[in-house]
Amino acid sequence: MKTVCFSAGPLLSDEDLASSCALLKAGHLIAIPTETVYGLAADVFHPQSIEKIFQTKKRPVDNPLIAHISSMKQLDRLVKNPSSILLRLSEHFWPGPLTLVFERSDLVPPIVSAFLPTIAVRMPKHPCARQLIEALDSPLAAPSANRSGRPSPTSVTDVLEDLDGAIAAVIDGGKCSFGIESTVIGIVEGKPVLFRPGAIDRQAIEEVIQMKVLKPAANGPVHSPGMKYRHYAPNAKVSFTTNYEQLIERQMRERIYVPESLSRENVYFHLRNADRLNYPEIVIYLDEKIISDEALLNRLEKASSIKGLSGESYGQSN
Ligand code: TXA
Ligand code: MG
Repeated sequence: MKTVCFSAGPLLSDEDLASSCALLKAGHLIAIPTETVYGLAADVFHPQSIEKIFQTKKRPVDNPLIAHISSMKQLDRLVKNPSSILLRLSEHFWPGPLTLVFERSDLVPPIVSAFLPTIAVRMPKHPCARQLIEALDSPLAAPSANRSGRPSPTSVTDVLEDLDGAIAAVIDGGKCSFGIESTVIGIVEGKPVLFRPGAIDRQAIEEVIQMKVLKPAANGPVHSPGMKYRHYAPNAKVSFTTNYEQLIERQMRERIYVPESLSRENVYFHLRNADRLNYPEIVIYLDEKIISDEALLNRLEKASSIKGLSGESYGQSN
């Protein structure tokens, strides 16, 4: 299949919007820009297209998807008995990079959330994602638009690197501004739990609800199945150091990739770039800024398969 590229700057033209909606209605997959990372989208109410998402990404079937909405009216069809804590968070952070896990309504095909009784929902801020969801008049299920296990895509180049020829279209909305995925919050036994650290910091969430946001129990059930897999990983080995002088010495002797000014915004670019340039190893200098960044540290830990960097556990037990 030839993958068509539509440009959005930041919105789609009427013609490209109509073509995108027609492709989605016909059950095709489209990669779309969001403010976090690119998503691989299909109509949430089309079980066959949802199945295609799993096949195309080679995603484990027990890893649920996020439904993306453009209005609160769309939330009603997706969820039931919404928790007041989650509604308060939606009021404050939507549209934006926060995903909330509600009880799933019976209208939603169970395959969307890997047959869990819950459904993850987020209202993205990216104008083009909102334009498309609004025009389609249906939420879009969208995981990150990478092959499963690879670093998430933050540009059209990244999407095509993994999925060219495997999807009907990609919408070019430029570089993603946040560069890492949304924060995922759920409710366990009535309390807010951080299923995945991400673009919105835990502290900001705690301030809004005036409650502690808990970590999932290290040996408890897996609440966010995606977090148990090795993830975000380049082909190159990923390792860490806190000794800058030694790193510079090593760099003079060996061919290692040392990302400069590593940040949330450029982490996935660097992980992919090292592979493009065929480096065998990426060595990351852990400075204070990285060490104190829960979300960034989590992604680095996942990319490296070295456990315990952050001292956190997000559903790795199973
Ligand atoms: O920023 C983002 O969240 C991006 C953009 C495209 O929206 N999407 C994204 O999707 O990162 P994905 O599929 O790569 O990651 C979804 C995460 C996984 O860790 C998954 O386990 C969790 O959300 N998740 C989804 N549904 C869930 C549910 N019902 N209960 C618990 N966790 C859920
Ligand atoms: Mg992903």
